Amino acid sequence: MNILVTGGTGFIGSHTVVELINNGHNAILMDNLINSSEIVLKRIEKITGIMPTFYKVDMLDKEKLGEIFDKEHIDCVIHFAGLKAVGESVKEPYKYYNNNLCGSLNLIEAMNRHGVKNIIFSSSATVYGKNVIVPITEECPKGECTNPYGWTKSMLEQIFCDIQKADEKWNVVLLRYFNPIGAHPSGLIGEDPNGIPNNLMPFITQVAIGKLKELGIFGNDYDTPDGTGVRDYIHVVDLAKAHVKALKKIEDNSGLSIYNLGTGNGYSVLDVVKSFEKVNGIKIPYSFKPRRAGDIASCYASANKAYSELGWKAEFDIDDMVRDSWNFQKKNPNGYGDQ
Ligand code: NAD
Ligand code: UFG
Repeated sequence: MNILVTGGTGFIGSHTVVELINNGHNAILMDNLINSSEIVLKRIEKITGIMPTFYKVDMLDKEKLGEIFDKEHIDCVIHFAGLKAVGESVKEPYKYYNNNLCGSLNLIEAMNRHGVKNIIFSSSATVYGKNVIVPITEECPKGECTNPYGWTKSMLEQIFCDIQKADEKWNVVLLRYFNPIGAHPSGLIGEDPNGIPNNLMPFITQVAIGKLKELGIFGNDYDTPDGTGVRDYIHVVDLAKAHVKALKKIEDNSGLSIYNLGTGNGYSVLDVVKSFEKVNGIKIPYSFKPRRAGDIASCYASANKAYSELGWKAEFDIDDMVRDSWNFQKKNPNGYGDQ
């Protein structure tokens, strides 16, 4: 298939492009590079032997977006583009609603105009809100989000559902990611956050490389086995492979489909730290801090639906994840900024 990958140079997008190419698809990338680097394209070429077509386009620019659809024959869009920093979204809600919602509406308009009605959308476990019963199944109703970023995901899910309901030619796959970490085993592509990382794994790798002094663990009094927060960490390569499998739902004209993408296993912050130390032989100094606002005790998926309907399940375990995260950080101490 010819697949337009928005946000294709980003963390999850770049890994998905590799898997698409490995499976014989033609990936056409679009990104405004606000949170990624063009160097990723060369890295993808190194891994796959193919330099994908790339458009440096902002999805807020309707005209340029439309030009991509004029030039390329597109069968399906995998839509990763968006801003994703939870804390920043609380401080700058307009920026998030404008970029994620208006950008996606522009994309939908361009798709409609060009008769492209197949989309796979990057959603998040965050749409389930705070009052969840673990393991979370897709039947669990959506809840109150704790931040504007989360609301953009929840609102976009609703928009895609309504569009599909109104026009049955649309095939929509909503993928709710749990906590993607890890990197391609080559160490050529991985996660390269701006500034001080908000998320656990890049924080740990930056402590390991000596850029940050110690990890602050947000809360040790949760109702979890060791008191620290439990999450469903998933290797980004497994996540990327799920997108290739999800194309089956597009090929089968399945209408609307919703899947959790997680491993089904919950690991605490201390489990992740211990695994990192054991696998990589590096001590991670840490201290306990107060709980972070908006965090919940436990969040992990039931991954059964993706397995029964897509034949997909995660293959990498937590030790693989911490090994590959560190491998990328070690080989790229300053992220893509080194090249
Ligand atoms: P990322 O920031 O690495 O990738 C997103 C890409 O979108 C970036 O390359 C950025 O430059 C691009 N982008 C942003 N606004 C754009 C615009 N207006 N026009 C064109 N490009 C634009 O993030 P990621 O971790 O790869 O996440 C990909 C998607 O998955 C996002 O939609 C994110 O919200 C979602 N998601 C991520 C996580 C996670 O923990 N990483 C969890 C759940 C959902
Ligand atoms: N944590 C720390 N110290 C840190 C960073 C995180 O203790 O410096 C803890 C958190 O309190 C939490 C766990 O590590 O218990 C994971 O935190 P992350 O920030 O890595 O991930 P979250 O589960 O908070 O959020 C992530 C994405 C969101 C997405 C959500 C979906 O960042 O975009 O998963 O589950 F919505």
